[in-house]
Amino acid sequence: MSGVHILAIESSCDETSASVISNGRILSNVIYTQKIHEQYGGVVPEHASRLHIRHILPVVQEAMSQSGIALEELNAIAYTQAPGLIGSLIVGSTFAKGLAWSLNIPTLAIHHMKAHVLANLIEKPDIPFPFLCLTVSGGHTQIVQVDSPYELKVIGETIDDAAGEAFDKSAKMLGLPYPGGPLIDHHASNGNPKRFVFAKPQIEGLNFSFSGVKTSILYFLQAELKKDDQFIANNLNDLCASIQYTIVKILITKLKKAVKETGIHTIALAGGVSANKGLRSSLTLEAQKQHWQLHIPSFEYCTDNAAMIAMAAHYAYLNEEFASDEQSANARGSF
Ligand code: KG4
Ligand code: ZN
Repeated sequence: MSGVHILAIESSCDETSASVISNGRILSNVIYTQKIHEQYGGVVPEHASRLHIRHILPVVQEAMSQSGIALEELNAIAYTQAPGLIGSLIVGSTFAKGLAWSLNIPTLAIHHMKAHVLANLIEKPDIPFPFLCLTVSGGHTQIVQVDSPYELKVIGETIDDAAGEAFDKSAKMLGLPYPGGPLIDHHASNGNPKRFVFAKPQIEGLNFSFSGVKTSILYFLQAELKKDDQFIANNLNDLCASIQYTIVKILITKLKKAVKETGIHTIALAGGVSANKGLRSSLTLEAQKQHWQLHIPSFEYCTDNAAMIAMAAHYAYLNEEFASDEQSANARGSF
């Protein structure tokens, strides 16, 4: 097949994923999610690296096979450079470099957060620029102004916990297993979101803060449990609905502020928290009210996946942004 074919690898946290993109079209997106971390209540970096080592080869083989592209037809190999768990990143980057070296083709070092944003172009290649992207995941919360695939600017971000972290930590306080975000969402459907009121930190500008919400929930639960040790069990749905309402309200308030400040009315969403039903319905409602054009990618492209790395790699390749030999995994990186 003629054109530009790129294999992309994502291994920044607890998903081992590989994808093939051909002339800007995703041909495969294979994702292996590590389940071992559930029993520890969070991602254990050492386990994550070991499981990436075990699964990277079969995942890449499956992505290549589904794409119908032969290894010899690849023009480049992309990998997530940053941010992420350093051991996990090293597995993906060294695999990509080794394979690229054996095929005598270049590598592309991709920034994970940039890729989350550009995932919006997978299903909507004609999304109009500029747009604002609300990226909400377990590790990050950002508002990004996207002027083109090459001009992305973080205009707001969390100064402490990420939105997904706020969901997961709140869920832990309620005794729910990790990751608790989807469970809060589930119980919230049958609860009253206005029943309990939690603090919403007032942060200047477009930045977010979620640690105050967490403390407010903790103190509230401690006080109520002293009076009634069955308080959580008896009020689980209302607690989940109220926690979700608080987190979503913080996100939407800042997004509205960003729209006002930039005058940009095209809004996109990225990251695993975008699966949250409360966030989706509030955003949809707000978009109708404020005449925003709203784009929400399929869930497969919202959580960690290699298709988003492939999409970002497609543009990096066109711009000849090839990785140098020294460029390797980097736990933080810059946007
Ligand atoms: O983007 P992601 O898959 O991984 C990274 O963190 O990069 O996001 C995972 C996060 C977790 O914190 C998880 O609890 C949260 O997304 N999440 C949700 C929902 N589904 C996933 N949070 C709230 N409601 C959901 N339905
Ligand atoms: Zn991510």
